[in-house]
Amino acid sequence: MHTVDVPASTPYRVHLGTRLLEASGQIIREAAGGEKVVIVTDSNVGPLYAGIVEQSLVAAGYEAFTFTFPAGEEHKRAETLLAALEFMAERELDRRDVVVALGGGVTGDMGGLAAALYMRGIALAQMPTSLLAMVDSSVGGKTAIDLAAGKNLAGAFWQPRVVIADVGCLGTLTPEQFADGCGEIVKHAMICDPELFCALELTPPTYDYLVSGGMARIEEIVARNIEIKRDVVAADEREGGARKLLNFGHSIGHAVEACAAYRLGHGTCVAIGMCMITRAAVRAGACAPEVLARLEALLGACGLETACSFSAEELYACALHDKKRRGGAIDLVIPHAVGACSIETVALEDFAALIAQGEKNGGNAC
Ligand SMILES: NC(=O)c1ccc[n+]([C@@H]2O[C@H](COP(=O)([O-])OP(=O)(O)OC[C@H]3O[C@@H](n4cnc5c(N)ncnc54)[C@H](O)[C@@H]3O)[C@@H](O)[C@H]2O)c1
Ligand SMILES: [Zn+2]
Repeated sequence: MHTVDVPASTPYRVHLGTRLLEASGQIIREAAGGEKVVIVTDSNVGPLYAGIVEQSLVAAGYEAFTFTFPAGEEHKRAETLLAALEFMAERELDRRDVVVALGGGVTGDMGGLAAALYMRGIALAQMPTSLLAMVDSSVGGKTAIDLAAGKNLAGAFWQPRVVIADVGCLGTLTPEQFADGCGEIVKHAMICDPELFCALELTPPTYDYLVSGGMARIEEIVARNIEIKRDVVAADEREGGARKLLNFGHSIGHAVEACAAYRLGHGTCVAIGMCMITRAAVRAGACAPEVLARLEALLGACGLETACSFSAEELYACALHDKKRRGGAIDLVIPHAVGACSIETVALEDFAALIAQGEKNGGNAC
């Protein structure tokens, strides 16, 4: 069992461990109070875990309801959000009541935004069930839905009152879904924790490792990742500066996601984006070649891809929709060494060239 305290504008605690679904009602009561709770969950996670959470909430004195939406990024959109809000209004939740977002990053983002909007904002408990949501999206207070024009274009900063991550839930992920979360874990190590990177190289986190007795070590890795995310967002809650480091691999990664029509996982696309920007940095002389070799080897060991089949032109066309773009320039995270990256503002034409240099056979230098 681990706890991590996040000193946000409204501080909150992350509880991490096993058998926390059963204990969630009491933890939520202490952190958020209220009388009614709506559990927002998706069609995969709901049947597995919503019943246990609902029972625990009822045992803690809540009246609990479950709103279930169809799983998938394509449902992280306005229609689902409005349906969740109507569901809350029909059950007459008021300002003191609570939303529990139980699921992966899609549920956390959508349920979190529903909590931010309902009656101008009610208490939120994040209960991440995917590896990606545990190590990344449930901490930091970013919530959003996608618009037709792009991902995460409508959202709000809304801090949870508490985060409850039951690592026992990871056992029902597929190996691919587990690997997807490793994309963000490797990202955290690359931006600021060379020791974590070495530890991951020694024993790469995989689904097989988890189910063959590795739960305790995976919990340690998740805890370290939550601390990293905590430290970055505590220094810069609204992404004015240092928080942008968390976007390592994301400008190209988002373009890969869009080119793949969101059929590839977010972490998978971030892995490809990290390799492409690192390849470009190596070709530009900003990063040593062994950094790229280690990054590719680690991601491969986690079961992730290091390149994609989209052309540089296709990726650039998709990247132009990235909301990190500012007029004719874009902020990019450039790796220099394992554990050391910098944020650089790059003209869009230069970004196009970087994407080309990031292709496995791109550029002239290698
Ligand atoms: N808010 C942030 O700071 C932030 C950060 C990173 C990513 N994100 C967002 O998170 C989303 C990606 O998150 P994700 O990969 O968790 O996606 P997801 O929520 O779609 O989950 C992936 C799949 O795993 C299933 N699932 C989740 N937990 C499960 C479990 N324990 N057992 C069985 N199945 C389970 C889900 O139903 C889904 O099919 C994207 O929309 C991305 O934009 C947000
Ligand atoms: Zn991400």
